[in-house]
Amino acid sequence: MQTLLEVLQKTEAYFAKAGLERPKADAQWLFAHVLGCRRLDLFLQYDRPMTDEHLERLRPLVRRRAQDREPMQYVVGSTEFYGLTLKVDRRALIPRPETEELVDLLVQRYGDAPPERVVDLGTGTGAIALALAQAWPNAQVLAIDSSRDALALAKENATALGLERVGFRHGSWLEPLRGPVDLIVSNPPYLTAEEMQTAEAEVAQHEPHSALASGADGLDDLRVIIAGVPQWLKPGGLLVLETGIAQHETLRELVEAAGLQGFESVPDLSGRDRFVLARQA
Ligand SMILES: C[S@@+](CC[C@H](N)C(=O)[O-])C[C@H]1O[C@@H](n2cnc3c(N)ncnc32)[C@H](O)[C@@H]1O
Repeated sequence: MQTLLEVLQKTEAYFAKAGLERPKADAQWLFAHVLGCRRLDLFLQYDRPMTDEHLERLRPLVRRRAQDREPMQYVVGSTEFYGLTLKVDRRALIPRPETEELVDLLVQRYGDAPPERVVDLGTGTGAIALALAQAWPNAQVLAIDSSRDALALAKENATALGLERVGFRHGSWLEPLRGPVDLIVSNPPYLTAEEMQTAEAEVAQHEPHSALASGADGLDDLRVIIAGVPQWLKPGGLLVLETGIAQHETLRELVEAAGLQGFESVPDLSGRDRFVLARQA
């Protein structure tokens, strides 16, 4: 019987040959998933024999990663987001680390005085809505998406995390709203047609296009959202958006044309313009 270390090394070599960027990390992640342990614990069990059952479970997952180029998060079926474990699959975009920065920005800005009514437009897995609901136990959080598949996944995540108080509505951007809110947050699709064409296979072939692409200049959805926001934000209420990296000049114009004030462009940790904030007068 082969040991864990032997099979791990073979898998890593196979991943490297297949051209994966992080063959060692991916192999360790997959093994930890199949063995039901943390990655760190693998090092303590290198001599452990790999049973036929383990190998049978590993094989299709290795194939999905190496041949089909499925993102690791879809292969193992989960990801970490701002301290939450979220189920992820092809129904919704895999939440990105930049979006954790967006959540953290909000948590830091509001500090001890969180908003009462919050809406997350284009919730996907529910990442932003659920992380904010966890951080702000008294906030009323509503999550909206036009994809019924994504909403079903987001609801599964809410239930698994005990965050059933988050509300979910199907519809396009602000249309499902019924009353004014203190905070509108959104990470909408914002890739340009050109960025979609040159996107990595992992993204373009596996993640939903409706979560990524937004017309020729990537701004179709942001235009609709920004134009609709003033009708729904309470006085002094905040709009916070995650955006593409070369869009802030145009977004400033759109935000000002909509009558919102205090346009702020905030960079992500790598220094690229990434978040936009603006207030209702
Ligand atoms: C970039 S993903 C963000 C998902 C999630 N908020 C996150 O940060 O991981 C954009 C989301 O917007 C949703 N979406 C696209 N068009 C929409 C529309 N017209 N109305 C509401 N949601 C929409 C997509 O289904 C997708 O879930």
